[in-house]
Amino acid sequence: MSRSIEPRWLRLRPLCAALVLGLPWLALGAEPRFGLGRPATPQEIAGWDIDVRPDGQGLPKGSGSVARGQELYDAQCASCHGTFGEDNQYMAIAGGVQQGDLERGRAASLATDSPIRTVGTRLNHATTLWDYIHRAMPFARSKTLTADETYALTAYVLHLNDILPADATLDEKSLPAVKMPNRNGFTTDHGFMRKGGAPDVRNTACMSNCATRVTLTSELPAHARDSHGDLSEQVRSFAPIRGVRVGEAPAKASGSAPSPGFELAKRFACVACHGVDQKVVGPGFREIGTKYKGESNAETRLIARVRAGGAGVWGPVPMPPQAHLPEEDVKTLIQWILAGSPTQ
Ligand code: HEC
Ligand code: HEC
Repeated sequence: MSRSIEPRWLRLRPLCAALVLGLPWLALGAEPRFGLGRPATPQEIAGWDIDVRPDGQGLPKGSGSVARGQELYDAQCASCHGTFGEDNQYMAIAGGVQQGDLERGRAASLATDSPIRTVGTRLNHATTLWDYIHRAMPFARSKTLTADETYALTAYVLHLNDILPADATLDEKSLPAVKMPNRNGFTTDHGFMRKGGAPDVRNTACMSNCATRVTLTSELPAHARDSHGDLSEQVRSFAPIRGVRVGEAPAKASGSAPSPGFELAKRFACVACHGVDQKVVGPGFREIGTKYKGESNAETRLIARVRAGGAGVWGPVPMPPQAHLPEEDVKTLIQWILAGSPTQ
């Protein structure tokens, strides 16, 4: 080992730099000099601070019964999830809980080769279900449910999963105490995608002969690759799966601007339900374009159709009404679809 011949004061360089660079910032913290922004109001903070923890921390006061939940569910949820939560066209939210699961604290179905994954079998805390519904549902109008409505809907979904009796009522005290069938079934001891695979996020720190260059990669198993078309062209534009191309979409020519129609389809989340080439829950955009190509009144008719929503042309699954979108944008979207949905 070579000895350092640097004078002692030079070794203090990092400390000096930190003091010189750091002091003005400390001062800024005390006195806002640029006059930008303002402190968030308590109401603004409350609007963001909606998370609910497993033990119930964050749950607002309120209550709701299974019976009230059924009314709300039939009006706002059954069209997509089925009368009994069983409809898998969007996502089944009931089913799969077996006798003995509740006592064991493990959902037996999940350990089989054909697991039934619903909120009833998967979740280990009932509070997660409350948080999800409150945040994300109903799909096209999320965050419109009150606390009482969310307690009622949570109670009803748990009832559909045979976890709560028909006369149950939930509130901020009783919800965290609900025992979920899979409460002991959570492990991190397995691959995320592959049954029997090595854990994805478990490793021991390397202390000697470590790799000099670390490359981050991710992958999808073959069976999951094509099921939703080319992910890079869909909702996941904000979280790309690096290093993986899926589907058969043509490679993008570099430098050309993305098409305005395609940008709108992404912005308004049409691509959550429509692939460009593939059917997702609705038909692929190019398929729609082909069907109506050359029809004289197709544009007007499809604009009205998208705004009104509905089912029956491509199958039994409904498109939710898109009446909240500006008419001009819907027009651009339909013209784009009828022009063959170019992605750039
Ligand atoms: C327009 C269709 C639609 C409506 C209406 C709707 N949902 Fe959903 N729901 C979905 C879709 C699509 C997903 C999956 C979302 C995802 O994975 O990003 C989902 C997911 C869920 C999940 C999570 C399922 C899971 O396994 O993680 C729950 C719970 C749920 N919805 C409850 C409700 C409730 C309660 C209502 C009524 C207040 C409702 N949904 C209304 C389409 C809908
Ligand atoms: C929640 C899922 C969902 C979303 C979001 C959605 N659609 Fe649809 N869309 C569907 C389904 C399902 C159908 C098939 C309906 C049918 O069979 O009549 C459909 C059908 C269509 C059709 C064909 C209508 C016809 O009469 O043939 C067009 C055009 C269309 N959607 C455009 C859009 C546009 C543009 C957006 C975004 C503003 C959008 N969709 C958002 C599910 C969705």
